[in-house]
Amino acid sequence: MTSDNQQVVFSGVQPSGNLTIGNYLGAIRNFAAFSEAYKCYYCVVDMHAITVRQVPAELRRRTYETLALYIACGLDPNKNTLYVQSHVPAHAELAWILNCYTMFGELSRMTQFKDKSAKHADNVNAGLFTYPTLMAADILLYQTDRVPVGVDQQQHIEIARDIAVRFNGVYGDTFTVPEGIISEHGKKIMSLADPTKKMSKSDENVNAVVYILDNKDDILRKFRRAVTDSDTVVRFGEGKDGINNLMTIYSCFTDKSMEEIEREFDGRGYGDFKSAVGEVCADALAPVRAEFDRLMADKAYLEDVMQKGAQDAAYNARKTLSKVKRKVGFTTL
Ligand code: TYM
Repeated sequence: MTSDNQQVVFSGVQPSGNLTIGNYLGAIRNFAAFSEAYKCYYCVVDMHAITVRQVPAELRRRTYETLALYIACGLDPNKNTLYVQSHVPAHAELAWILNCYTMFGELSRMTQFKDKSAKHADNVNAGLFTYPTLMAADILLYQTDRVPVGVDQQQHIEIARDIAVRFNGVYGDTFTVPEGIISEHGKKIMSLADPTKKMSKSDENVNAVVYILDNKDDILRKFRRAVTDSDTVVRFGEGKDGINNLMTIYSCFTDKSMEEIEREFDGRGYGDFKSAVGEVCADALAPVRAEFDRLMADKAYLEDVMQKGAQDAAYNARKTLSKVKRKVGFTTL
């Protein structure tokens, strides 16, 4: 909560790849709804991105792109603090302090750490291990009440809460204990090539993933090729992971319930259904793409947004950081 009693929302997206409809449906498209009632911080978390090796020029480009996508997805920079994590040094400072209040054992249990260290076995660096404490710092710096994310981030929100409670227990009330907000629909969009796996921006198979910026032809083709099952009936149920995922995506874009979708496609085959999913997805994303192209042509504007966002974030972060430094016993000049 802010000093004038406004509740705070924080979320972040890594500029580590082209953003997918998983990022869109699970997170970004839900952000704008908070802008009126909450003080909102939406951060491009470039410091998290370097826990996996990045090509520097691509990281720089994607940082601009992620910011442009935030705006193209409806986040007004005048109503939300949009900024880049590395522009606000308080994130790194608080992360270090929180590292000293986070246990080796609890970090070892993080499933994302286990998955990523298996995937990048040649680069199991300390940053990958302490990733959750940087994420806790992101959230706790702003006295965040709510954190809208996809379900894959739930464990990271839990550890942020544990760290906050532990710190508060030692030093008295310091941090607001944040709550994750995980939307019922779209919280876990699955890969189109393997619907038992999460759709991920780092997937090497481009047909497994629909990117927010894909053109209509690519979107239609990818959905047409999506892996389903040998049944022909559009019905939500066990053993139908591919169809369940497509129905979820269709439901997110149309707001129709599973029963309504089953009725709509009663007696029609998977082919018809896949085309319909592609159409609603492409139609919803077309305006986002157009706005994105417009914004990317105006770097000066994006830099202005970054600058103002970083100033506002740094100002508010400083309040928490000073309090924390005082509590742990650092001297001040
Ligand atoms: P990242 O960049 O992997 O993903 C950004 C957001 O998209 C959600 N998401 C999905 N939702 C549904 N289905 C999917 N297939 C899917 N893939 C991704 C993620 O849950 C996330 O909400 N650690 C975070 C970034 C972060 C952060 C934070 C988030 C850093 N600091 C503080 C919240 C608060 C991450 O890697 O997200």
